[in-house]
Amino acid sequence: MLPTGRAAAAASARTTNVDMTEQSYREDLGAQPPRRREAPHGDRFHIMVVDDERTQLEFVGGFLGKAGFEVALMGSAAEAVERFRGEAFDLVLTDQRMPDMSGLDLLKECRALDPEVAVIIMTAYGSIETAVSAMKEGATDYLTKPLNLEELRLRIERVKRGHQLLRENTELREALQERHRIEGVIGESGQMQEVLDLVRRVAPSDATVLLRGESGTGKELIAKAIHYASARRKGPLVKVNCAALPETLLESELFGHEKGAFTGAFATRKGRFEIADKGTLFLDEIGDLPAHLQAKLLRVLQEREFERVGSNHAITSDVRIITATNQDLDQLMRQGVFREDLYYRLNVVTIILPPLRDRRQDLPALIDHFLRKFAEKNGKTIQGFSREARDALLRYDYPGNVRELENLVERATVLTRDDIIGIGELPLTIKETRPGSGDQTNLSAAVEGMERRMIVEALEAAAGVQTKAADNLGISERALRYKLQKYGLRDDK
Ligand SMILES: Nc1ncnc2c1ncn2[C@@H]1O[C@H](COP(=O)(O)OP(=O)(O)OP(=O)(O)O)[C@@H](O)[C@H]1O
Ligand SMILES: [Mg+2]
Repeated sequence: MLPTGRAAAAASARTTNVDMTEQSYREDLGAQPPRRREAPHGDRFHIMVVDDERTQLEFVGGFLGKAGFEVALMGSAAEAVERFRGEAFDLVLTDQRMPDMSGLDLLKECRALDPEVAVIIMTAYGSIETAVSAMKEGATDYLTKPLNLEELRLRIERVKRGHQLLRENTELREALQERHRIEGVIGESGQMQEVLDLVRRVAPSDATVLLRGESGTGKELIAKAIHYASARRKGPLVKVNCAALPETLLESELFGHEKGAFTGAFATRKGRFEIADKGTLFLDEIGDLPAHLQAKLLRVLQEREFERVGSNHAITSDVRIITATNQDLDQLMRQGVFREDLYYRLNVVTIILPPLRDRRQDLPALIDHFLRKFAEKNGKTIQGFSREARDALLRYDYPGNVRELENLVERATVLTRDDIIGIGELPLTIKETRPGSGDQTNLSAAVEGMERRMIVEALEAAAGVQTKAADNLGISERALRYKLQKYGLRDDK
């Protein structure tokens, strides 16, 4: 009964291609399938069932058709791939053991064509290894044969709900980004949206911008954002850290010098003001600018000209100036350390970056952003943080602001051996003391990881209702509660 060889497989594909709802495809096997892959439309959930055993295929297909799903039945993996190329599916439900290709390989083929398609693998042999590798390869779920049809339906419902959530989420995020997106800047909180609005409004002008905020709040990032959102984006963005150099060097760094202007000035050198011509000059740590240079900077701002050190020939440069500081300029002015007239020149527009602890709504998006960034950088596939680790990250105060969060996520990403980052990967300062999980063999660690992930998904799908989640997982509520505790997933604290 099992087809052997290519020809037989193809013939079998032809005879078993019983499409439950799209009858036309049955007669159309010879016709070119549409090339363009469209997103599945409407509410119908489009499922492809792949199995080389015809009775099994029709049994599953018939059941799912009656349950209201839109189903296409494929008698071989090759046929499935062909069909998948031309048509969008929400879910591929495939047998693992097939003569022409394993379910796992089919999973890879489908994901290459559509990274978001859900794939459930059916294993006839109940081998935990196959299930583990299926989940490792990114299968959405797995089922063991003989199939329990009710369980099958529940698992599919779960995938479907997950899909809806994902789609709604993506749409919502895209809509938000449409309005508030600036390359590389994450900011979903009201405060950051105001900042980004301001950035968008001042960027096109040449107005001098003063960026204020604690260390690590993103001042430099915003300076870059302004430059790249401005008409000067093709020109240079030049940065000078006013706190990093002693006064004399800083002066020549900013304005350049003539050959022989001072000991060591062996050649004429352009200053940053000149180099930044047609671009943006970012003066960081402006609060540390020495008095004498404050006067010189004020003159540049007023007269738009300056001289290189050791020269009296005036030079002009077409620059937009952005400055930043984490110091309290008002206090520096009161102390007479910072010139008031300069201050008023610099703060034509002031943008204040609020500390991260005052805009906690940004935390989830920032965490995801950095996780993706560092997972990619380190070549790791990481699902996310454990509930416990995430809670700790969401609770922490971040005196070092976004930079501190970024460093925490990078560190955890480098340290983790698991695809879910646990509390153990966070530094002592932020984690609560909790007993370590101890040593585990790879297999049981993988199974636990999988179990944990399924529980998290079930809970999400059931909107946190434990009875429902337990039901969906096919375990008792008591067992679920035990596992929640085991994996530190209790949200009752
Ligand atoms: N809203 C944000 N979205 C994404 N990344 C951010 C955001 N804010 C800050 N970062 C990142 O955090 C790190 C610190 O930001 P940045 O260097 O701009 O801070 P800063 O305010 O200039 O700090 P300092 O005063 O110490 O110089 C950078 O790697 C930056 O890319
Ligand atoms: Mg900075």
